[in-house]
Amino acid sequence: MSRTSATQAVPAREQWTGQVGFILAAIGSAVGLGNIWRFPGVAYENGGGAFLIPYLVALLTAGIPILLLDYAIGHRFRGSAPLALRRAAGRVGEGIGWFQVMICMFIAVYYTVVLAWAISYFVYSFDLRWGDDPTGFFVGDFLRAADEPFTLEFVPAVLIPLLLMWVVALVVLGAGVVRGVQRANVVFIPLLVIGFLVLVVRALFLPGAVEGLNAFFTPDFSALADPGVWIAAYSQIFFSLSIAFGIMITYASYRRRRSNLSTPGLVVAFGNSSFELLAGIGVFATLGFFAFQQGVGIDDLESLTGVGLSFMTFPAIVAEMPGGAWFGALFFGALALAGLTSLLSILEVIVSAVRDKFGLTRAQAAYGLGGALAVVSVLLFGTTSGLTALDTIDNWANNVGIVASAIATIVVVMWVRRAGAELSGHVSALSTFKVGRTWRLLVALLAPVVLGYILIAKIVELIANGYEGYPALYLGIVGWGSVLVMVLGAIVLTSARWRHDHAKFEAWPPIEAPRREEVRR
Ligand code: ALA
Repeated sequence: MSRTSATQAVPAREQWTGQVGFILAAIGSAVGLGNIWRFPGVAYENGGGAFLIPYLVALLTAGIPILLLDYAIGHRFRGSAPLALRRAAGRVGEGIGWFQVMICMFIAVYYTVVLAWAISYFVYSFDLRWGDDPTGFFVGDFLRAADEPFTLEFVPAVLIPLLLMWVVALVVLGAGVVRGVQRANVVFIPLLVIGFLVLVVRALFLPGAVEGLNAFFTPDFSALADPGVWIAAYSQIFFSLSIAFGIMITYASYRRRRSNLSTPGLVVAFGNSSFELLAGIGVFATLGFFAFQQGVGIDDLESLTGVGLSFMTFPAIVAEMPGGAWFGALFFGALALAGLTSLLSILEVIVSAVRDKFGLTRAQAAYGLGGALAVVSVLLFGTTSGLTALDTIDNWANNVGIVASAIATIVVVMWVRRAGAELSGHVSALSTFKVGRTWRLLVALLAPVVLGYILIAKIVELIANGYEGYPALYLGIVGWGSVLVMVLGAIVLTSARWRHDHAKFEAWPPIEAPRREEVRR
């Protein structure tokens, strides 16, 4: 590897104990806040039942193909995103890998905050602390949201669970891939599935549940003519499946060399979508109950997605429901568990990358760098000014960062380095479900065209309309500034020296790859 003057041997890579451990960890990563607090509202606002059409199209044409691309890169080139992409596509590839790591850093610092809120609300459920004005309670009593864009006034109700979440996440990461991440997922994922099923079944028996489901599933086919609906479907799939921001590359790099890749990929993709649908059913059955109680239609309800749905609308429902306390505890407990297993994967991208490049031990990477991120997270979001920054960074990281990363990865790996045949050969050589020309066409042609359109449309919209009415200067600094920092961070990290000599790497199994030699130099 060029620019490597070090000679230390590369330490052996950690490995999942087997297929089940890998699948549970990958499902743990995929199933997160995106499934519970984002999908139901996004589906409802974008055509209800009809949204399932673009959603399925997005899953089959981009979600699963790019999931398998991530798996193939991580597994064949056995490294974190920067290392695997460097082996696959040279220095530019490494830069894209670091861009993905930077995206994870930004997401990690705010994702943890939502988990912290969920933990507080889990506790508040037991005495319905939000009283009869959950919105006022959330913004005022709980967050003490300030008008100023940045303050250093800490909010204990956020700060304490935030520190707790960071400690838990870093201890799990510090324990290693098997003893930490895998073990946490093996315990948490079955717990999450059981808890969530109980919640959904309870919701289905609430009065008004059927009207809620009707509102959710009634298709508005005219929505299919709206490009915005298709954009929403593709964006949802990307964030939800944890693709194109380093996670699946990293997780696949911990798979044994002789491993089936495509079958677990299908299990993870369909498992994630099933959970998403389940969340939609549970949330809308509950909203149906709420509308019924108020004597209004679902359309008349406010805050049906994201922060508003989880921390304003749901508490209001819980307050009116018989047995609401445990229903609320189950909901917020599920949100925290789903989020924690995703957070672990987001942080593992960072830990794995700095270990590969700078030769850090797992403890140094997890506690040192993780601790630094925790400090940033606390300073930015443990204060009265956290909400606006969170919302802004979330929007830019997902809608601009991840989509741009997906396009860049595809262009460099599939077009410039022409690794398509090698990667489809790699997946097929080891898997029961083979991929070939159709997969390559979807990944190399259809996905970048659709994603390119989505990215341009989004950028134009953000420039023309801003976001949520926030001041343009603020959006410039926090929104566009975040993307700029991601790019600059990627450039700086790419130019740093590799601690270990990774040049002797041989991809396995050997597959005819016309430009491989050139890539390795
Ligand atoms: N895939 C994770 C989620 O849905 C990041 O929240």
